[in-house]
Amino acid sequence: MRKLITMALTVVFATVLAASLAGADKGAEIIVINQIQKKFPPVSFKHHAHQNHEGVQCADCHHTTKAGEAVQACGACHGQGTDAPDYKTAMHKNCQGCHKKMVADGKNAPTKCTGCHQKDVAAR
Ligand code: HEC
Ligand code: HEC
Ligand code: HEC
Ligand code: HEC
Repeated sequence: MRKLITMALTVVFATVLAASLAGADKGAEIIVINQIQKKFPPVSFKHHAHQNHEGVQCADCHHTTKAGEAVQACGACHGQGTDAPDYKTAMHKNCQGCHKKMVADGKNAPTKCTGCHQKDVAAR
């Protein structure tokens, strides 16, 4: 009996631990990237869909975040006049850089300007 209780408790603890790891802050499902609007309206971005794309890791975008640390917005460093590339350069290198690789792998990620810069953000 005692053995059974110990086993049951082990299962409970393992489940709680797994849940707390899975419960890390994943940010909003849809993020509107609106740091700079000179020529175009904000870029609406399916954040959770990106987290679920095969082979895509948090660190592909959140490249300065280490395991267990809170995620910082890109704009905390980019576009602040530091040694980090400016905000537009960082976005284009990150977003278009991966999309070009994905297209080379036969996937359908947008590489044309209007794939990300759309007039009606709400329509997406
Ligand atoms: C394809 C790129 C990409 C991937 C993959 C990605 N994110 Fe993000 N995430 C972003 C962008 C872009 C923002 C908006 C940052 C900004 O406002 O400057 C963001 C914002 C966030 C924020 C809000 C930060 C803040 O303070 O505003 C959290 C939390 C977050 N992401 C967590 C995660 C976690 C956890 C994962 C992996 C499970 C993940 N993200 C995967 C691009 C990504
Ligand atoms: C804590 C500060 C910080 C945060 C937060 C941050 N970056 Fe950076 N980033 C840097 C610095 C510093 C560099 C230049 C040195 C380097 O390449 O690591 C850089 C470089 C880059 C580069 C250029 C890499 C290359 O090969 O030229 C890209 C792209 C980039 N960041 C995208 C992002 C995106 C997208 C986010 C948010 C999802 C983000 N960064 C968040 C500090 C940051
Ligand atoms: C690490 C790889 C990677 C990065 C970085 C990335 N994407 Fe994507 N993106 C994808 C993949 C994979 C798809 C889906 C392709 C498919 O349908 O098979 C996609 C699809 C999209 C789509 C079309 C589907 C939709 O969500 O409406 C948009 C728009 C998009 N990405 C915007 C962005 C923006 C904006 C950024 C930068 C903040 C970004 N992506 C960064 C891999 C990436
Ligand atoms: C994969 C997504 C993606 C593609 C494709 C893309 N961009 Fe962007 N671009 C962004 C993101 C994200 C930002 C940052 C938006 C913000 O913060 O308001 C941005 C910012 C900009 C800005 C600065 C904001 C403004 O309104 O002036 C310009 C200009 C721009 N892009 C032009 C282009 C052009 C031209 C093309 C095609 C050759 C292009 N982009 C393709 C994602 C993309």
